[in-house]
Amino acid sequence: MTNLIVLAPMEGLVDPPMRDILTRIGGIDWCVSEFMRVTDVAMNRTTVERFIPEMNQGWKTRAGTPVRPQLLGSDPHWLAVNAAQLAEWGAPAVDLNFGCPAKTVNRHGGGASLLREPELLGEIVARVRAATPAAIPVTAKMRLGYHDTSLALDCAQALSSAGAAEIVVHARTKLDGYKPPAHWEWIARIRDAVAVPVIANGEVWDLDDYQRIREVSGCSAVMIGRGLVVKPDLARQVRRQQAGQALDVMEWEQLYPWMADFFTQTRTRMADRHSPGRIKQWLSLMTRTYPQARELFDQVRRNTCAESIEQQLYALAESRSVA
Ligand SMILES: Cc1cc2nc3c(=O)[nH]c(=O)nc-3n(C[C@H](O)[C@H](O)[C@H](O)COP(=O)(O)O)c2cc1C
Repeated sequence: MTNLIVLAPMEGLVDPPMRDILTRIGGIDWCVSEFMRVTDVAMNRTTVERFIPEMNQGWKTRAGTPVRPQLLGSDPHWLAVNAAQLAEWGAPAVDLNFGCPAKTVNRHGGGASLLREPELLGEIVARVRAATPAAIPVTAKMRLGYHDTSLALDCAQALSSAGAAEIVVHARTKLDGYKPPAHWEWIARIRDAVAVPVIANGEVWDLDDYQRIREVSGCSAVMIGRGLVVKPDLARQVRRQQAGQALDVMEWEQLYPWMADFFTQTRTRMADRHSPGRIKQWLSLMTRTYPQARELFDQVRRNTCAESIEQQLYALAESRSVA
């Protein structure tokens, strides 16, 4: 667990093409899939393949980075059935989501709403653990609580004593949503209260944040979500810094080939009326670190034709390689 960097699960944002691009840029130790919702059925293989096509290449991205599936639900039996199935299909681990703040998810008793019931959290992990071969880690991702942090330690202890192999702590409550700050000092409290490794998560946008979250939380392993999407070489920068090498920060133009590749992959997965939304979403988020993303976003926004957007991205990539 030293210095691990984990790419966070992000539904609708870190999908297979984004995982492919970010893990090829480098520095990421493993990824967690977008959550797959478990109700009262066993998922079929086609559904899982849609979320995690990497399962057909040994649960690894093209760069060789492992992808762990994440399940979201509140029924211990059905979560256990589906976890066992994933293990049979070769999943390297099974992660359980106890942090999703979405209304529809919480109304059905899944995600962050479970943080009000530490006993149920424990029961879920215990049932999933018992149903899954011992060699496959069962891990959990939690927030600090639902409305407040009063049950944070109880929840973490319930997860740990029920057999979670690792706990990722996103240092905010459900009520906090995604509003800064993230309360990293709470990760340290949780780390002191449980016997299993804790992975720190929340508001890591640059190298300074990466150092500070580790200092404040005492964790050496860090999960990064939005920071990696808006600074795709952030994990690589960390690795270079740790190796004492020059950072070699990625310039805007160097991202063109990656964006073109991302969009081509996206077009193979979705209809042309939906795919432009994905590149617009990425560009709009990247304006946070690359002011130049605004201009390209505005150009792409006016264009509804997926094919011509793709051509435009390749023309930019080409101009860059000729320059
Ligand atoms: C668009 C979006 C989708 C997310 N989807 C998931 C998810 O499917 N499963 C999960 O456990 N967390 C999900 N999260 C939470 C992230 O994994 C992470 O905990 C959070 O973004 C804080 O980390 P960051 O500040 O590094 O982004 C999502 C977050 C965002 C912004």
